Amino acid sequence: MKKKIVALLRKAGLTNKDLDKYIQIPKDPSHGDYSFTTFAIAKEQGLNPAEASYSIVSKIKHEEGFEKIIAVGPYVNFFVDARAIAEEVLKKIEFGKDKYGINKDGNRKKFMIEFSQPNTHKAVHVGHIRGTSLGESIARLHEFCGYRVIRANYSGDTGMHIAKWIWCYTKFHKNEKIKNEESWFAKIYVEAVQKLEGNEKGEAEVLAINRKLDERKDKKLIELWKSSRLKSVAAWKPIYDDLDVKFDKHFFESNVENAGRKIAQELVKKGIARIDDGATIIDLKKEDLGIWVLLRRDGTVLYSAKDLALANEKFSKYKADESLIITSVEQNLHFRQLRKTLELMKFKKWHDYKHLGFESVRLPEGKMSSRTGNNILYADFRNELVDAARLELEKRAQLPEKELRKRALTIAVAAMKYTMLKQDTNKVIIFNKYDAIRFEGDTGPYLLYSYARARSVLRKSKGAGKNKDFAISSKEKVLLNDLARFPEIVANANVNFNASGIAHYAYTLAQTFNEFYHSCQVIGSECEGFRLRLVKAFCQVMQNALHLLGIRALEEM
Ligand code: ARG
Repeated sequence: MKKKIVALLRKAGLTNKDLDKYIQIPKDPSHGDYSFTTFAIAKEQGLNPAEASYSIVSKIKHEEGFEKIIAVGPYVNFFVDARAIAEEVLKKIEFGKDKYGINKDGNRKKFMIEFSQPNTHKAVHVGHIRGTSLGESIARLHEFCGYRVIRANYSGDTGMHIAKWIWCYTKFHKNEKIKNEESWFAKIYVEAVQKLEGNEKGEAEVLAINRKLDERKDKKLIELWKSSRLKSVAAWKPIYDDLDVKFDKHFFESNVENAGRKIAQELVKKGIARIDDGATIIDLKKEDLGIWVLLRRDGTVLYSAKDLALANEKFSKYKADESLIITSVEQNLHFRQLRKTLELMKFKKWHDYKHLGFESVRLPEGKMSSRTGNNILYADFRNELVDAARLELEKRAQLPEKELRKRALTIAVAAMKYTMLKQDTNKVIIFNKYDAIRFEGDTGPYLLYSYARARSVLRKSKGAGKNKDFAISSKEKVLLNDLARFPEIVANANVNFNASGIAHYAYTLAQTFNEFYHSCQVIGSECEGFRLRLVKAFCQVMQNALHLLGIRALEEM
């Protein structure tokens, strides 16, 4: 609407930039749906504001889509013709369908987004779920905005945590077949940590394993490392199925180790890095980013150097135009050091190598079981939410077991993803499962519930319905406005990597729909035809919003 009004103001002869800055939505609807203030432009034209508004209105009195446009003192008040607008909005949604809201901002550029990144041989915990939910949502947003998206995963598969796992496995579980089961892997790792506490002999054995892994000469050991790694990655498949995520590319730290070493050595030659007490470092103190160590004294390639090689690979081999890495905020400093180093290296795309950090996820004390000490395993977390969703469903209807299970999982995932996404990334989440799973309030299940309710209205209707001459009520107007806003919300959310913008929008939309539903009869009403179109449009837009949140919709709850 604002664009439309700006176009009218241009037609009336205004040439100023930023005209939309002076367009407001009046608090009192008797002043119109939109109001343009003439103070600023009158000043420029040497008129008084009332003269300016009168002169504008003399040129745009009768315009399509407006009931009336009138001058009142320093204001031009626009009264929208709700039926014309309604027709326009509904047609756009009916025509756009699952593409309603898309745009071409991305210009088909290649966007590589790296997220989730659990390390092999270790647990997947709730923090990973926040990152995975965010990454998938931002990936879908970019697809919606005309980018070609590559989803990448990147796992640590070398170093001490692997050595510990292998130590524990070979010593205490040798006769067990390696399972592709995530909690089995996690259990062995946790057991290793416990058994190594104050255990000097064990520590020495782990160090020896680590050295042997590094040398890559002990065939049997390398075989065990590789086969267990494969199983460990396979064990994530059910998790990613739950979360509806598929990766196009999986990078491993071990694959960029050599390239990382080479880059570090070149940086020394170029005078960007130097050897300090045997280690290879970059001094970023001038930039207030401390010392960044690339290679240890014994030549081990560190996380830092591997990330330099990874950046190179993403741009040279995968030809990414833009890249985003999502991790916990604990790595913020690391990524600032990385970007600075890429800049010093004159890496062409350093500016488009972006990082987004998210805060931690905690649980209210004692509310959820945890088998790994401080970290809450995905498996436990998921099962508790599924059980809670089941209880809610069982209260409402008797369902066959298979259907019950399917719905409970969809609701559980909606609950976790929505809670993860609605919060801004820089805020800690205290995850309370009872809050998250509620069917009412600011929750994922509430969105599903509103959608399912609308779908059931559509199922009950018997065709197009009557459509007498009718006026559009205020509740309908609000709903139409919300539906119309969606494309703008999408574009803004994408620029700022802001999935929470979509979450807030979806919640508002659901509320608006429910208010409309309570105050306007649909089936059997005088304007059933129009209202059915409105309900259908709501379903479509809610479905598109849920898609951007990575949440599957349910036809029935
Ligand atoms: N696997 C790493 C970890 O668990 C996160 C990887 C982040 N990505 C990167 N390019 N460094 O800490």
